[in-house]
Amino acid sequence: MNNAGSSEQSPEFSTSPLDDIPEALRETAPSVVSHRPSRKWPFWWWGVVGFAIALLVGSLLNLLTQTPGTTQAINTSHAQEGIQVALTKTGIPLPSNALLGHLPYDEAPAESLENITADGTVKLRRPAAEHFVDMANAARADGVTLVPLSGFRSVSDQEYVFFDVKAQQGEQTRERAEVSAPPGYSEHHTGYAIDLADGSKPETNLEPTFDTTSAFHWLEKNAARFNFELSFPKNNPQGVSYEPWHWRFVGDRTSLETFYRARVLTSESQETTQP
Ligand code: DAL
Ligand code: ZN
Repeated sequence: MNNAGSSEQSPEFSTSPLDDIPEALRETAPSVVSHRPSRKWPFWWWGVVGFAIALLVGSLLNLLTQTPGTTQAINTSHAQEGIQVALTKTGIPLPSNALLGHLPYDEAPAESLENITADGTVKLRRPAAEHFVDMANAARADGVTLVPLSGFRSVSDQEYVFFDVKAQQGEQTRERAEVSAPPGYSEHHTGYAIDLADGSKPETNLEPTFDTTSAFHWLEKNAARFNFELSFPKNNPQGVSYEPWHWRFVGDRTSLETFYRARVLTSESQETTQP
């Protein structure tokens, strides 16, 4: 307290050195003085000013330290995404209703299907069928023969493809699921998916080596112009084996929603999403 009392005296003492300087040499003091009220500010006033400055500096420091905090939060979120990427290979977790890496699909209604082969063995949903025919004609004009091997498949067709072929080949369930979808989970149920072959290379039918054919190279370059895309490229999010022969139509709202909307179905939404 005594110290505080003595420091109250200091403003008065501080002026005394000026008195020792000849008036003509006082370069700074007169201008400062001329802009100040003649009355000296009481010590408590300087305390208020100091407190305000401290508040201002504190706020600035807070602002400066908040910025790295925000960055850290973003980085943490990226780190979390990184963990997801590590867990799922792509960062896109599969919906909880996936089975062995495959997603559930409804069967296309029979009346929505159209033949794309003369013998009627391969069918697609109408918009996909029309675009496929255009695409096959364009490929033929370029000297490439696209052969449709399989289009729409019912759930019971897929029971044969999954269970009977699995039994014939003595495969384990997970092994079979790498190359074939369980019934109810095949893109072929939708009527938008098609397996294609190269007419000049039948030995590559349904083989990864199909990607060495001119048909595959043509599709890689041109399929998007007809709204077809490869469903299972290498390292696909679903973890399904590479299927260079399996293409799907994504050229209208229904097909796009079928393949791209979140498909974590509840019992109610299942009832309302019947085609
Ligand atoms: N062949 C693919 C896995 C499917 O049927 O969906
Ligand atoms: Zn297929």
